Amino acid sequence: MHFDIFTLFPAMFAGPLDDSIVMRARTAGIVSLALYNIRDYAEGKHAITDDYPYGGGGGMVMKPEPIFRALESVLGLPPRSAGELEAAPSSRPTPIILLTPQGRRFDQSVALELADHPRIALICGRYEGVDERVRRQLCTDEISIGDFVLSGGELAAMVIVDAVTRLLPGALGAEQGAADDSHATGLLEYPHYTRPPDFRGWRVPELLLSGHHANVQRWRRQQALLRTALRRPDMLEMAWLTDDDLAFLARLEQDRELAGRLQADL
Ligand code: ADE
Repeated sequence: MHFDIFTLFPAMFAGPLDDSIVMRARTAGIVSLALYNIRDYAEGKHAITDDYPYGGGGGMVMKPEPIFRALESVLGLPPRSAGELEAAPSSRPTPIILLTPQGRRFDQSVALELADHPRIALICGRYEGVDERVRRQLCTDEISIGDFVLSGGELAAMVIVDAVTRLLPGALGAEQGAADDSHATGLLEYPHYTRPPDFRGWRVPELLLSGHHANVQRWRRQQALLRTALRRPDMLEMAWLTDDDLAFLARLEQDRELAGRLQADL
């Protein structure tokens, strides 16, 4: 899996992608990244990448020429102009994704969808926005990482690289798995405990110390269901639930005392 990242601030990427799981995956050849400074594709002595918006108003808009030139050069796309019958952006093999608060919302299912591609280009928007022709004529997709406004798409691009890399085969060590992650199952994850069994008088739930695998599995599933029901009931509508799960949730609804007892473990 290869990410081409187009930004005016490549230095922002040093650090988050040079450590931990993403770095391990890079070293193992599971994922690779290339950073391109959009300014390097701007023309003229001053290499200008932004300009005033037509129609007035505050802020600056990222110009189309350097962004088109950067992507055409790196992805080997033939330059297109209005009226040409060449492939429309939507039929391009490599997704070209603009990070913007106006995009479709990123979540685990979008991460899974992206993980299926061998190569992805990410364009980090800045300033007030990006010239509309970049959206319409170059990008194949627009993604937002949430309903808030960042100073630019760089942090959003890093979030996407991290979430997608975790899903690639071999990216997590054998001892870890993405399968139980919160959201991967459609439920929030169950609580985790490690040693010591008694920390300042706060004890690990007795059942976890029992070594009884089937009971531990059932407890974890029930805790995941309970936690999701309490914190993110909206997720239960999309989650894949067994008959046992549904019966457990129905019991929780009816038996407040049981719900309270189980919550003590949360
Ligand atoms: N750029 C600015 N805010 C953003 C957001 N929420 N998601 C993606 N890109 C952004």
